[in-house]
Amino acid sequence: MRFPLILLALTLARCLSLPPPDELLMDGVALFSRGDWSGARDRLWEALRSLREVRGARLRCGEDCGPRGSHLEELVLERADCLLSCEKLQLGQPSLYRLTKETEKIFQRGSPYNYLQLAHYKLKELDEAAAAAFTFYMRNPYHEQIQDDVQRYQRMKGVQKQSLRDLEEPSYKALFSQAIALLSESKLASAVWKLEESMSACLSAVQACRTLCEGTREKENQTHQEISEVIADYYTQVLQCKQRCILDLTLEPGRKRPKQDSIVSHLKLLQDTYAQLGEWESAAEISRSLLLFHPRNESIIKKLQSYEYKLGGKSGGKPRESIASYVRRTLAEKKLLYYAMENLDIPFQDQDLWTPEDIIPESLRDRVRAARAAAEDAGGELPYEEVSVTLSPRQMNGTVRVTLDGVLSKDECESLLHLVQEAEASGDGFKGRRSSHTPREKIQGLNVLRALQMAKAGAVDTTRAHLFYYAGERGRVLAESYFETKTLHFSYTQLVCRTAIEGEQEGRKDVSHPVHADNCILDTEEKACWKEPPAYIHRDYSGMLYLNDDFKGGDLFFTELDGTTVTAEVRPQCGRLVMYGSGGDNAHGVRAVTRGRRCAIALWFTESEEHAEQERHEAKILVKGVSSHKEQKEEESSTGRETTRSRISSNEDESEKPSGRQQRRRTTRKIRDEL
Ligand SMILES: *[C@@H]1O[C@H](CO)[C@@H](O)[C@H](O)[C@H]1NC(C)=O
Ligand SMILES: *[C@@H]1O[C@H](CO)[C@@H](O)[C@H](O)[C@H]1NC(C)=O
Ligand SMILES: *[C@@H]1O[C@H](CO)[C@@H](O)[C@H](O)[C@H]1NC(C)=O
Repeated sequence: MRFPLILLALTLARCLSLPPPDELLMDGVALFSRGDWSGARDRLWEALRSLREVRGARLRCGEDCGPRGSHLEELVLERADCLLSCEKLQLGQPSLYRLTKETEKIFQRGSPYNYLQLAHYKLKELDEAAAAAFTFYMRNPYHEQIQDDVQRYQRMKGVQKQSLRDLEEPSYKALFSQAIALLSESKLASAVWKLEESMSACLSAVQACRTLCEGTREKENQTHQEISEVIADYYTQVLQCKQRCILDLTLEPGRKRPKQDSIVSHLKLLQDTYAQLGEWESAAEISRSLLLFHPRNESIIKKLQSYEYKLGGKSGGKPRESIASYVRRTLAEKKLLYYAMENLDIPFQDQDLWTPEDIIPESLRDRVRAARAAAEDAGGELPYEEVSVTLSPRQMNGTVRVTLDGVLSKDECESLLHLVQEAEASGDGFKGRRSSHTPREKIQGLNVLRALQMAKAGAVDTTRAHLFYYAGERGRVLAESYFETKTLHFSYTQLVCRTAIEGEQEGRKDVSHPVHADNCILDTEEKACWKEPPAYIHRDYSGMLYLNDDFKGGDLFFTELDGTTVTAEVRPQCGRLVMYGSGGDNAHGVRAVTRGRRCAIALWFTESEEHAEQERHEAKILVKGVSSHKEQKEEESSTGRETTRSRISSNEDESEKPSGRQQRRRTTRKIRDEL
């Protein structure tokens, strides 16, 4: 016993040389904002290393202190004792190394890498800078600044191609990519080895994740609870965390929930590759393992039968034990969680797509089914905390169609409406003219570049013009993330106001904007939409971001190709964004505006880079290129919310300092006020 202890003590000495990760992170960021690039670089790398070592220590302890005893008291108390002494040995003072949820999030989001990339860049360490930038980008794919930065590193001379890699990529993902590459070269034998390697790495990663689920819990309100209530509460939390491990490991950050988890993906590939190699025994074993997830899948059953036929009709083989025990354990835990859901009213969101119905208590099945349908209907993850889905595609009676709220705050809507007034007052290019669609309305349009040019000339407020620019950017990010498209480029952006003409509204039967589609010519007689010029055939997605609701009429409506059968109708309001595919599936029009003024930002996007609007590029230069130091600060705030919270600023702006939740909240508010 003594020998391993000495060994532990030796590893401990190394471990203790590093202060806790959050302390290092704060130091690093402080040095960063003072412009001490090498100090910041060293401290931030140390923070990441410290985090890894703390996790490693926890993992070792968690595994060493496996279940002991057979009574609950022994199980819990002896394990607690073991964990405490183990962590003490490894970390000295374990409580020092516990991170708040907020700090955990900062690390999870990869924010230290954003600081690191700039520090390395300033130090002219371009390969390191590129790797750090790419690592941050992988965790924040919709962050506008990092998208630009990564593209810049890609083009930069002196940056090696392989430097653009994810430094935090789990080992099994790297192995899996190698296996896929081998498969594409038809190197089956090597591919199958890689797949096996990747599969066991994946199972180990799941195991490690599960162990860390038993970490600490922040003390919440000290209410009076039964001891068994407390235990049940905590225990179900841990179980839910464990159940999430496989999907957390499968998920690409910011991407939609995959159709299958990594283990199932591995098995499917292994099954087919073994079959191609003629290794029927192994292929059959994998098929049986797959059937544990999908017991009634015809295609797998047929495959298994064909493999067994090749083996001379021999049957009765078993699934692979590592998979069988994984499935057994998962199902046992799910049963407990459903029990808690049914009897203790503890919510449980089962994310797995393969959970068999019969383990779900009957009284819950409808609820669970509905929740699953909703999850499948949902689009990609939205990168802004304030934005939520108000009408899903299904509720909109379409497919590529959604209504989001909270895209602009009330103040932001006001600012943009002020921008309209200022532009109007300047008498410069924003005069209302009779609408070409109806003589009863006037229409005005202002595009982003024009607004920015007017701001430069002092005719309108600069912050408001910038907000116009960034409102479009938010729309772009939302379309990209919700519809999970390729990178979207602006095709055109315009702030449009429609104003009812006083006293001419009696008995109106016309509309404000007749039914049309955005990228094709709607032929309501043929019930078709012709994708040909003069339609803007390169537009792929459209968005309408509304600024107000103090007018009469003006609802947006969608129709079928006949132009008359209305399928959905949406009332505009401040901060509401309706997004839809630009084709004939989303023929739409605007009801007559019979009183007041209706303003909205119309956004059109294209997936085709070559059809990206040149004006947007010029606008970007006006916003970013030549702005003064002060303005730059404002932009950083206005770029938007969550995704850019950790955007780098080289000034003394302490707001980026990753610290407690409260400070972050305050920062967000301050940003809003500035606008
Ligand atoms: C803790 O207390 C606050 C205020 O008393 C309350 O708003 C919050 O919901 C409580 N949280 C829990 C988990 O009970
Ligand atoms: C059965 O499995 C195959 C591939 O293994 C998959 O393509 C198919 O969608 C599955 N069918 C069902 C009903 O799950
Ligand atoms: C979708 O269709 C249903 C049934 O026709 C209707 O009640 C609902 O209002 C429609 N959705 C929208 C957003 O208009």
